[in-house]
Amino acid sequence: MTASVKVEKLQGQVFHWPDELSAWGQTEAARLRLPLTSLVGQRLDYTPFQGPSPRWAQNIWKDPHKISFSSIAQAAAALRSLGAFWNQVPGNLFRRAALIQERLPRVPQKPRPFPHTLPTASMGAWTLLDESTLWASPVCSSPFPGGRPLLLENKVDPPSSAYAKLQESLLLLGRHPKPDDDCLDAGSAPGGWSWVLLQLGANVVSVDRAEMDPRLISHPRLRHRLQDAFSLLPSNFEKLDWLFCDVICYPAKLWDWIQLWLDSGKVKHYVVTLKMQGEPDWESIDNFAAVPGSRLVHLFHNKHELTWML
Ligand SMILES: C[S@@+](CC[C@H](N)C(=O)[O-])C[C@H]1O[C@@H](n2cnc3c(N)ncnc32)[C@H](O)[C@@H]1O
Repeated sequence: MTASVKVEKLQGQVFHWPDELSAWGQTEAARLRLPLTSLVGQRLDYTPFQGPSPRWAQNIWKDPHKISFSSIAQAAAALRSLGAFWNQVPGNLFRRAALIQERLPRVPQKPRPFPHTLPTASMGAWTLLDESTLWASPVCSSPFPGGRPLLLENKVDPPSSAYAKLQESLLLLGRHPKPDDDCLDAGSAPGGWSWVLLQLGANVVSVDRAEMDPRLISHPRLRHRLQDAFSLLPSNFEKLDWLFCDVICYPAKLWDWIQLWLDSGKVKHYVVTLKMQGEPDWESIDNFAAVPGSRLVHLFHNKHELTWML
């Protein structure tokens, strides 16, 4: 590498916001006292501080570097010296950025059927700011390129597109229900999540005020209860391997209900969607995030939602 390349390791983190949710991410960063500088429009913000990260980020660059260079070959070589796999986040000078990306090892892009194990190699992210400056991080919070999971789409069998949200959660969690595990699927209709669980061989009690898709209702391992999900309590079950919840409700109500299950000690694992109506309910977000050992993230397949997993 010639002397005209400069690789500068920076303190802090870069946040890649989901489309249309940068405002919530920026509000959360302010709550966490993280001052932000925009790198790329509303897509990428930099903070010079470590520490807590906003949950509304799609991907977090954990080890940011600033690379100054004069040629495309130099830029690609500098990236290769930092890490193997790189996902380019659109910034400026698209053609020049594409020429740099072409010189990097090809990132696996082929969608794979669920379930699968995630690659162990770290997935880096970079963006071109101007003709001679790029920012990059060889270490990111998401194992997926740019935070986007490589899941094979199925538009035929699942009763709803929500199945992808659950598959993404379980991939991130690194575990999923095994055959004969007992699952409660709350807010289950029309049945995208239950479809995933049945495919895995689990036993499912689904509960919703609405009916399930007719294709699922006669499945031998599914029992549907047409009632208010919040009327089901730990005393109704001996034990559960998994509790899933995708009910549309206020996060505070959800927190009250989930606390009953946590206190009961009857559930091994959880995947729960927190749905925001209007502004985020920061108090409930903090309550869920404070549960020891749990994770609260914004999935690629989440809209105005966060997913809590334990
Ligand atoms: C986003 S949809 C769930 C989609 C589902 N997870 C799937 O994979 O197809 C939200 C569901 O919450 C249900 N719901 C809302 N309030 C409820 C309550 N109090 N008890 C049970 N279900 C409720 C709605 O009927 C709706 O089916």
